[in-house]
Amino acid sequence: MPHGFQWPRNAPFPEIEDHTLRKLEVLRKYLDVYFDTVAQNPRMDRLNITLVDGFCGGGAYQRDNGVKYGSPIILLKAVRAARERLNANREKRLELNARFVFVDAQCDHVASLEEQIRQAGFGDQIGRNISMVHGTFTDELPGILDGIRHGQRAGRSIFVLDQCGWSDVPMSAVHSIFTSLQRPEVVMTFAIDGLLNYLREESSALAQYRQFGIDDDFIAEWNARKSDEALGRLVTQRVLMTNIHQLSGAAFFTPFMLWSITDNRWMMMAHLSNHQAARDKMLGVHWDSHNSFRHVGKGSLFFLGFDTRLIESKDALFNFGEQDLATMNRELCEVLPGEIEKLTKNGPVEVKALLEQIGNRTAARNQDIFRNIEDLAGRKEITLLSRDGAQRRQGSQVKLTDQLILPTQGLLFPFPR
Ligand SMILES: C[S@@+](CC[C@H](N)C(=O)[O-])C[C@H]1O[C@@H](n2cnc3c(N)ncnc32)[C@H](O)[C@@H]1O
Repeated sequence: MPHGFQWPRNAPFPEIEDHTLRKLEVLRKYLDVYFDTVAQNPRMDRLNITLVDGFCGGGAYQRDNGVKYGSPIILLKAVRAARERLNANREKRLELNARFVFVDAQCDHVASLEEQIRQAGFGDQIGRNISMVHGTFTDELPGILDGIRHGQRAGRSIFVLDQCGWSDVPMSAVHSIFTSLQRPEVVMTFAIDGLLNYLREESSALAQYRQFGIDDDFIAEWNARKSDEALGRLVTQRVLMTNIHQLSGAAFFTPFMLWSITDNRWMMMAHLSNHQAARDKMLGVHWDSHNSFRHVGKGSLFFLGFDTRLIESKDALFNFGEQDLATMNRELCEVLPGEIEKLTKNGPVEVKALLEQIGNRTAARNQDIFRNIEDLAGRKEITLLSRDGAQRRQGSQVKLTDQLILPTQGLLFPFPR
């Protein structure tokens, strides 16, 4: 049987591993939430989107004598299901126009995927709204970006970049996605331990490492820490994540870690977007499948990157369980007033601004943050005003446009209208 991600001709499908199944499960759930969110407005009559699978693979795997589909067919099915679901109760039909671009560097994989697409009942779309491309992702990307820019005003797109290692999705490629398009999202895998385990002192001279901010200092710190298998590695992983986020050009970055039993190492699946709401929805998916993923970091607020608390507390892995939720809420409640104080130095700010400010530093969903804001307002530790400056009634739902202020600040500040 072919090993890993190989689809040679006339051979059985490769066996799928647990962590790959979970990765695909998150992708599937996120797509459902994505379409439900972007098509929320019942008056919307058209949604144009391009779904790019830059490392599409051969389409299917074996598992327990059954077949499991890979990311391209998950994308096709998610769009078909969204079209049916969203139109079920609409008076005005929503036209969901999706284009798919499936790229793979191996000819056999493209051929295998094409066969699977036909068998799954999507064959008539090939050559119309499905493009099958044999090539490398970086070679194909400029043409794909041009196609999206010219064909869709809003540039709405999702890029699934499920590379095998870490070097086939250069930071310049991710950056070009976020600078060329208005509404892109990227879901990218990155063999984070695969990179760290082979790092040598001389690696800092190589462009393939330097693109992730890996310099002599980075390597020296990694060498000093790596003997601490649990936390030394975690801290360096986090520095690398911060670098990837900063160099990507995306405003929001949600890293999730997957443990591969066969490779005995961590993989990262990162979601990148420019919208806090997108990050919130992805977090919701992770909370819903709480045993599948480990979020690196504590539940409350801290900066991604080196954080000595990881070493001090030895409490750095986060599992999205009941216990984590309770801990996170307790911690959030402690740190939110300080965050609000910093933000409101020059006057009241909207709840939306708070979410944007802390979004990358917490595993909390918006609903968790709203609940904490309500509690703090109930205890009069903060004051919450509606958009027009009126004091908000207790028990009414927190809105993104509500204004936050500390009670000690009173309304000395002119209220922004
Ligand atoms: C991890 S597999 C993708 C699995 C797929 N996403 C799924 O869910 O089944 C990675 C794929 O990327 C392909 N590949 C490797 N290097 C590539 C490159 N530079 N550009 C595009 N595809 C590449 C491999 O042939 C392989 O099929």
